[in-house]
Amino acid sequence: MNTHSQSASGIDRDRIIIFDTTLRDGEQSPGATLNVDEKLTIARQLARLGVDVIEAGFAYASPGDFEAVQKVAETVGTADGPVICSLARAIKADIEAAAEALKPAAKGRIHTFISTSDIHLQYQLKKSRAEVLAIAEEMVAYAKSFMEDVEFSPMDAARSEPEFLYQVLERAIAAGATTVNIPDTVGYMMPSEFGNLIRGIAENVPNIDRAIISVHGHNDLGVAVANFLEAIKNGARQLECTINGIGERAGNTALEELVMALHVRRQYFNAFLGRPAESEEPLTGIDTRQLYKTSRLVSNLTGMLVQPNKAIVGANAFAHESGIHQDGVLKHKLTYEIMDAQSIGFTDNQIVLGKHSGRNAFRTRLKELGFDLGDQELNKAFVRFKELADKKKEVSDWDLEAIVNDEIQQVPELFKLEHVQVSCGDHARPTATVTIRTPDGEELTDAAIGTGPVDAVYKAINRVVEIPNQFGGVLSAVGDSGNRRDRRGDDSPEI
Ligand code: KIV
Ligand code: ZN
Repeated sequence: MNTHSQSASGIDRDRIIIFDTTLRDGEQSPGATLNVDEKLTIARQLARLGVDVIEAGFAYASPGDFEAVQKVAETVGTADGPVICSLARAIKADIEAAAEALKPAAKGRIHTFISTSDIHLQYQLKKSRAEVLAIAEEMVAYAKSFMEDVEFSPMDAARSEPEFLYQVLERAIAAGATTVNIPDTVGYMMPSEFGNLIRGIAENVPNIDRAIISVHGHNDLGVAVANFLEAIKNGARQLECTINGIGERAGNTALEELVMALHVRRQYFNAFLGRPAESEEPLTGIDTRQLYKTSRLVSNLTGMLVQPNKAIVGANAFAHESGIHQDGVLKHKLTYEIMDAQSIGFTDNQIVLGKHSGRNAFRTRLKELGFDLGDQELNKAFVRFKELADKKKEVSDWDLEAIVNDEIQQVPELFKLEHVQVSCGDHARPTATVTIRTPDGEELTDAAIGTGPVDAVYKAINRVVEIPNQFGGVLSAVGDSGNRRDRRGDDSPEI
């Protein structure tokens, strides 16, 4: 297994590397699209949280993704900050875009991938195994020509034939991959199977000692965290995860759950990392007290609510309703609690500000909540805060988050809805006509039929604002995640 004490990016190899992909795979959650400023705000908080790697986006996917990767690289990718990573298909243009966007980062990583399962090869890529092997090797080498730190993922590894997987990984490592990532792309595996897969890789890929084994998983069957913990026991040292577990379909493996499992049960995991059984040394570089704050920030900015009973960061995660439990906890916390709410930075929504609080206290508290505002934004938010403090004696953290969300994180108005007219009835087909003023001041009118009046309005708006993008596809201002394919504008696989 890995013998060097440091990885290509200078990360200590004797602990678990946390690779956060909230801004890339997480942002692929339906409806979770973030703008560049929001991504930057999250990236700064991820750095405070102490993640080792931030996958900031997929630089080639769209100009917005490119800018986000570049800005995160510039702002957060400092010498003592995290490694900044961009995803790239095993295609030259993708790798070039990733390398370009990552230039400002002190430590950059290109993460390139190609599918290896027969089902993807046959139906999606329409390529033979020999072709995929050659492409993987060539594109890893190409990525390596731009930077030292290269990650390779055989997509749908969990459903790939193990012998073929070993070959692809061996060739990718020989070509320069410093991390090989094993994705369970469709969330199909059970924990013991995933553990065996990782052990098979550790034992059968001849040059595996030259790379870190990473895992990436989706939560379709609800076992993504369990799969990763089993992977660690079998040699995985990097975990790819997202805050609140957001991501495609049922989401990605949840960072806060993994980190707290490794924190609360560190003595259980010590043996698998070759540490003394009683060692209290943290297994990750994460500052667990930042977890709750990070969860709230991501939930606020993506608009994806956290279910109340969600492990670690759900509103009920530390609440005790049953009389017997309450009685026990009052007598001794450990009767019904395995971890302290303060260890994740959960302050029980403590009241911190009131109408006598000044601008400095306000700014400091917002910073603690992960919002680093410029002077102008701060002034606007401060006015709102004072208005609220006049009406409400105590202003909570949740109020502050709401103020920032309302006032600051608003998407700039590019298109203005000038006029809307809808007709519908029991025998009529719902039809809407809209007039929209474009950013250039031009007025455009169009009409559409929908499944209901609201749908008709949205369809009509979409017809008006469809703009051809630079890749020849179509970008829709009020579209859904289905537009991702169009953003790339070719017949590439979805990720
Ligand atoms: O789920 C997946 O396979 C991915 C890869 C691009 C790593 O997100
Ligand atoms: Zn994924």
